[in-house]
Amino acid sequence: MGADKAKIVVGDQTYEVDIVTGTEGEKALDIGSLRGRSGLVTLDNGFGNTGSCRSSVTFLNGEKGVLKYRGIPIEELAQKSHFLEVAFLLIEGALPSREELDDFAQRIAKNSHLPEPFKKMMASFPQKMHPMGALSCGTVALSAFFPEGNPPDPSAEQRAKAITLLLGQMKAMIATYYRLRVGKELRDSDPGFDYSSDFFQMMFGEGDRDVDPEVAKALDTLLILHGDHEQNCSTSSVRMVGSGKANLFSSVASGINALWGPLHGGANEAVIDMLDEILADGGGYKKFLAKAKDKSDPFRLMGFGHRVYKNFDPRAKIIKGACDTVLSKLGVHDPVLDIAKGLEEEALKDDYFMERKLYPNVDFYSGIIYRALGIPTDFFTPMFVLGRLPGWLAQWKELREDPKMRIGRPRQIYMGKTDEAYVEMGVRPPKSEGP
Ligand code: ACO
Repeated sequence: MGADKAKIVVGDQTYEVDIVTGTEGEKALDIGSLRGRSGLVTLDNGFGNTGSCRSSVTFLNGEKGVLKYRGIPIEELAQKSHFLEVAFLLIEGALPSREELDDFAQRIAKNSHLPEPFKKMMASFPQKMHPMGALSCGTVALSAFFPEGNPPDPSAEQRAKAITLLLGQMKAMIATYYRLRVGKELRDSDPGFDYSSDFFQMMFGEGDRDVDPEVAKALDTLLILHGDHEQNCSTSSVRMVGSGKANLFSSVASGINALWGPLHGGANEAVIDMLDEILADGGGYKKFLAKAKDKSDPFRLMGFGHRVYKNFDPRAKIIKGACDTVLSKLGVHDPVLDIAKGLEEEALKDDYFMERKLYPNVDFYSGIIYRALGIPTDFFTPMFVLGRLPGWLAQWKELREDPKMRIGRPRQIYMGKTDEAYVEMGVRPPKSEGP
C-alpha cells in the first residue's frame, strides 16, 4: 500500500481509500465511494471529523492557534491591511493591485444605496424585530429587488456583480435598520469614506461631523478578524444552500440565520448579557464559573470554547489587546472588561477548562469593543455579519466555480420505528405516543 492509501477493515473485507493531503499537510480519508463499495456510511455527530469540501480560502490549525486567509497570517492582516483589501483577498484569492482595489471600492460604493421601496419594507418590520431577523429578511428580499442578480447558473460577470452588490447593500441595511429602530433620519452612503468609516457615518453620523479615525480603525480591525473561518456553522449553511443552486442572496441569508444562534455568532451578544449579569450580581465571577462546570446546569461560559481551537483563538488574542487600546483612546471605562479579564484568568487555571482545552474565543472580548463604539447589544451579531460576509461570498464563489460541485446531501442512520400499521382515527388512543 502506498503512503497515499489507507485500509478500512470491516469483518473479513478490506476497502482501500485514498488519503488526501492538504497544502498545509493535514490529511483526510476520502470515503466518497465507500458506501457504493461496502454499503457502509460514516457517522459523525456535529461533523466534528468530517471535511465537506476542498477549499483554498482559509487555513486554520486549532492545535497551534494558526489562522491564515489565502496563506497570509491573520496577525499580519490585522496590523497592515484594511477590511476592503481583505475582502478582495478572500473573494479573489490574492491581494489587489491599486487599480483593482479602487475598482472594487467604486463598485461597492455604487451599490451602497438601498432602493426606496426597500427602506419602506424595512420600516414596516415590527419595532421589536431582532436586527438579525431584519437582515435575513432583507437579504432574501434583495432577490426580488435585483432579480438579474440571481439566475441558477450565474456567469462570472453576474457572480461578480451580485457579490459587490451584497457588500454594498449589507452595510446600508444594517445602518438603515439601526436608524429606523432609534427613529433617526436615514443617512446615505458617502463614497468619500472608506468602507468602515462609511458604515459608521451611515449608522451614527450627525450633521457633517467626520468619523473619528480611531473608532473607524477599531471597527475595521474587528471586521478583518471576522472575515472568514473555513467551514463553520454559518459558512457550511451558505455552501449547503448554494449547492442546491439557490441564488446568492438566499444562500447568504441562510448564513445569517445560522450565525444568529448563541453557540455561534450570537455568542457576542450573549457574552455581554452574561458579563452584565455578573456585574449586577456584585461582580463575583467564581459563582458563574461553578455554574458553567455544573453538568446539571445548562449555563455555559459564553465566549469560551471552540470546536476547532484547542490552544487559543488567535483572533481573541488580538481583540483582547485592542480592547485596552480602544477603551483608553475613547476614554471609556467599562467595568465588565475587568470582569472579563478576571473570569478568563480564573478559568484558564481551572482544571475543568484546562482539561477540556476551553479558551476565550473571538466573541469573548469583541462585544466590549462594540459597546465602547456605541453599538447596541442586539447589533453585535449584525456586526459579525458585516465582517463575515466576504468569507461567505468567497466560499460561495469557490463552490459555484468548482466543476465538481455536487448538491450537499448527508446520510443518516435511521433509529425510528419499523413496520408500524396505520391506525384509523376512531380507534387511536386519546394521546399519541412519541417516537
Ligand atoms: N462552558 C462550559 N463548558 C463548556 C463550554 C463552555 N463555554 N464549552 C464547552 N464546554 C464543555 C462541554 O460541556 C463538554 O464537556 P463534557 O466533555 O464534560 O461533556 C466539553 O466542554 C466539550 O464541549 P462540546 O459542546 O462537545 O464542544 P463543541 O465543539 O461541540 O462546542 C462550542 C463548541 C459550541 C463553541 C462550545 O464550546 C460552546 O457552547 N461555547 C459557548 C458559546 C460560544 O462562545 N460560542 C461561540 C463560538 S465561536 C463562533 O462560533 C464565532
